[in-house]
Amino acid sequence: MCKSFKVIAVHGSPRKEGRTAELLNYVIEELRKFDKVEIEIIHLIDHPIRFCMGCYSDDPKLCNPKNCTQGVLEDSMKSLHSKIILADAIIFATPVYWYNMSGVMKNFIDRLTALENAGKLLDNKVAGFVVAAEEDGATQVISNLMAFANDNGMLITPYSLVYSVGRGSVGKDEEAVLYARRLGQNIYRMLKIACKVKKPWKEYDD
Ligand SMILES: Cc1cc2nc3c(=O)[nH]c(=O)nc-3n(C[C@H](O)[C@H](O)[C@H](O)COP(=O)(O)O)c2cc1C
Repeated sequence: MCKSFKVIAVHGSPRKEGRTAELLNYVIEELRKFDKVEIEIIHLIDHPIRFCMGCYSDDPKLCNPKNCTQGVLEDSMKSLHSKIILADAIIFATPVYWYNMSGVMKNFIDRLTALENAGKLLDNKVAGFVVAAEEDGATQVISNLMAFANDNGMLITPYSLVYSVGRGSVGKDEEAVLYARRLGQNIYRMLKIACKVKKPWKEYDD
């Protein structure tokens, strides 16, 4: 049985104390209630992350963690790949930038392709999503993130649409706070389920 769980919260807003971070904090607050959970927050803005160079499209064999972090691609992704590989759950938190996730989050996600391609290394990890917007696009962004997570064999929690729309403190958005707290609880429940899965979901080589 799993003795403890490692949760990584990947924060993709350049504003470290903005609305995305505030909403994410409610999720983390819930997770901190469980003794067995260790949480690390990664502010992507602290990590220079280069664009994916599309090695996969040249030859899938070239898209692997080693090749993806050397030469022109030698950047923070080497240590971030290692952290992600060791995580049991990953929370993706981003503001909406033009109906999509932020650029830093997109670069980060693109560079995770090396983990998928090296043997579906995100398989069976729990995924959560947190999004802040001013007007429109939050559920669209969550859908995009969910598609990525699902196609990597990740476990998406129930009631995963955690977003706040507006300006000013997220704390005033009671529905968003409720959903964020629920996500924290559900990530823990899902971690316990994932722990019981003996083998990865992936059944076929592709
Ligand atoms: C470049 C940029 C593009 C944005 N595009 C959208 C958008 O398409 N839809 C929206 O609702 N808000 C948009 N916003 C507003 C942010 O999503 C909103 O202010 C969010 O709360 C910022 O999160 P943060 O406080 O964590 O930085 C945009 C903001 C910026 C800077």
